[in-house]
Amino acid sequence: MTLEMKIRNMLKLACIMLSGLLISCQSKSTETTIAMKSTDPHTYAQPDVAVVKHLYWKAAVDFDKKILRAEARWTIDAQPDADIIMFDTKGLVIDKIELNGHAPAEYKLSDSDPILGQGLAVLIKPGTTEVSITYQTSPDAEALQWLSAQQTAGKKFPFLFTQSQAILARSWVPCQDSPGIRFTYDAEVTVPKDLLPLMSASNPQKKNGTGTYSFSMKQPIPSYLLALSVGDIAFNPISDRSGIYAEPALVDTSVWEFADLEKMIAGAESLYGKYQWDRYDVLVLPPSFPFGGMENPRLTFATPTILAGDRSLTSLIAHELAHSWSGNLVTNANWNDFWLNEGFTVYFETRIMEKLYGKDYAEMLASLNLHELKEEIKSMTAEGHTEDTKLKLILDNRNPDDGVTTIAYNKGYYFLRTIEEQHGRDKFDSFVKDYFSQNAFQAMTTEAFIPFIKNYYEEHFKIALSDSFFTDWIYTPGLPAYCPVPQAVRFTKVDEAFMHWKSGQALETAVTNNWSTHEWLHFINSLPDTLPRQELEALDKAGNFTASGNAEIITAWGVVAIRNNYTKAFDKISTFLINTGRRKFLMPLYSEFIKTPAGKKLAQDIYARARPNYHFVAVNSLDKLLK
Ligand code: BES
Ligand code: ZN
Repeated sequence: MTLEMKIRNMLKLACIMLSGLLISCQSKSTETTIAMKSTDPHTYAQPDVAVVKHLYWKAAVDFDKKILRAEARWTIDAQPDADIIMFDTKGLVIDKIELNGHAPAEYKLSDSDPILGQGLAVLIKPGTTEVSITYQTSPDAEALQWLSAQQTAGKKFPFLFTQSQAILARSWVPCQDSPGIRFTYDAEVTVPKDLLPLMSASNPQKKNGTGTYSFSMKQPIPSYLLALSVGDIAFNPISDRSGIYAEPALVDTSVWEFADLEKMIAGAESLYGKYQWDRYDVLVLPPSFPFGGMENPRLTFATPTILAGDRSLTSLIAHELAHSWSGNLVTNANWNDFWLNEGFTVYFETRIMEKLYGKDYAEMLASLNLHELKEEIKSMTAEGHTEDTKLKLILDNRNPDDGVTTIAYNKGYYFLRTIEEQHGRDKFDSFVKDYFSQNAFQAMTTEAFIPFIKNYYEEHFKIALSDSFFTDWIYTPGLPAYCPVPQAVRFTKVDEAFMHWKSGQALETAVTNNWSTHEWLHFINSLPDTLPRQELEALDKAGNFTASGNAEIITAWGVVAIRNNYTKAFDKISTFLINTGRRKFLMPLYSEFIKTPAGKKLAQDIYARARPNYHFVAVNSLDKLLK
């Protein structure tokens, strides 16, 4: 290729990048191949031109500088006439790029977009099979959270973990950061000798004394499932194929809490087919982890806030495990189809819990989910986000994080449950199983899902699912006229106790002493908006809420306490907010505080102290809320 042609390419590239939308880069026909638009609005990648197949990642972790120094060597598959490959990056400092192991490559980074980061264009040649990028991450890489020793349970060693979903993988690995693009990977990671690195791959179970470890992920995964964690981590097995990683001080507690892990895996397999990722381990992270769980393949990352001491919050593990099918095997093609990942996962999670603990238990979970869903629809509608209450989202030019609401989860769940109930569980189970096996290791869009399920029901059961049914659930805001209502006997008993309490009688210990987290949450959810002080005190005494060690209870009660200015609970809430980074708990508590000027002041004071403990994902939401 002549220099002049190369420059023309670069200009084409600039045009592509400026336009943001690749198709708007209209010009001569010679440019059409390069301007083919990916269906994913959140990537610079053009997989139709050149796509990644395998990653060899070699990295050293520098806790002092808070950076990774790495080489990402990508095996690629390019069209014969392709002269460019596009990657996503965010804040990476690129040192050099080589083709096929040695030849220096020309490359260019686009201007930085606040959400998408920078596109990286590398000029390739016919016969280019490998692109090797040597780089380092920035100290404020959004996917990486670097914890000081003080922020860990052991207080002796620092800790690092990644969170790549939805589009943060690009801040630690230059990649084609789209859920529709899959690759296998191998890695070699060097860490300080007294720490253990783990990845979403085959993992070591103990330190080896050298500080350098090898990893391999043989099944193709999308970039949002790339994960790394480094710390003083110990391992304890639960079964031959599963176990718990955690800081040494938390391993035993965690093993006790998740004792049913193997039963969950076996239960999941009996429902929807063989587990495809060999091992299933759980890593319990320090409390600043911004999510409840993250389904990194082979190694779920989990918050320690589910260590309730009574196994009452383990449905979260069932949820992340379920993603090993819904999400990790059959993957939403882009973040507009997020409900395909999460709706199916909540459905599957609930079925696993039903299998292990019975129908009534599962109905309690479903009931709490319905409450959450209705509240969310109300508040989203009130705030003018009606469009986001549709299952199918339009997140173009927006942060995909905007789509992370309970709509994808719980409306998705109720949509699938409706099909199950209307035509029978056997039929639905046979559909789900085949849906997973026929689409395994592939991406799925809402638009492909609808004909898939319609054809399935038509072919196998001679049942015609109507178009209006899909339109009502998927493309219409809010909830359709008919939505199933779960019935949990244990909640009916709570409702009875609630009616007694409402009529002026005290909550009796004889009634409440065997209530679990779920019953208490249901009770708290039923409380009226305003409560007099002495009522709050009596309730607090009956439920021991303010003194609770259960994060779900503290949050639900905290919202009630803040709303009613029950200041007795404020110290507890403040300590909780400073020590916990899980966004699901932070958002409702801070949101309730800011409803009054005095509360807002308090929230801002707490936030000023807590912010250094939070992950970027949480900070990003809270900065907007508390500005
Ligand atoms: N994959 C999600 C977490 C996620 C979603 C991270 C979108 C980034 C962007 C994970 O499976 C999840 O749903 N976690 C929930 C747990 C759950 C039981 C609903 C959470 O973190 O609260
Ligand atoms: Zn999930």
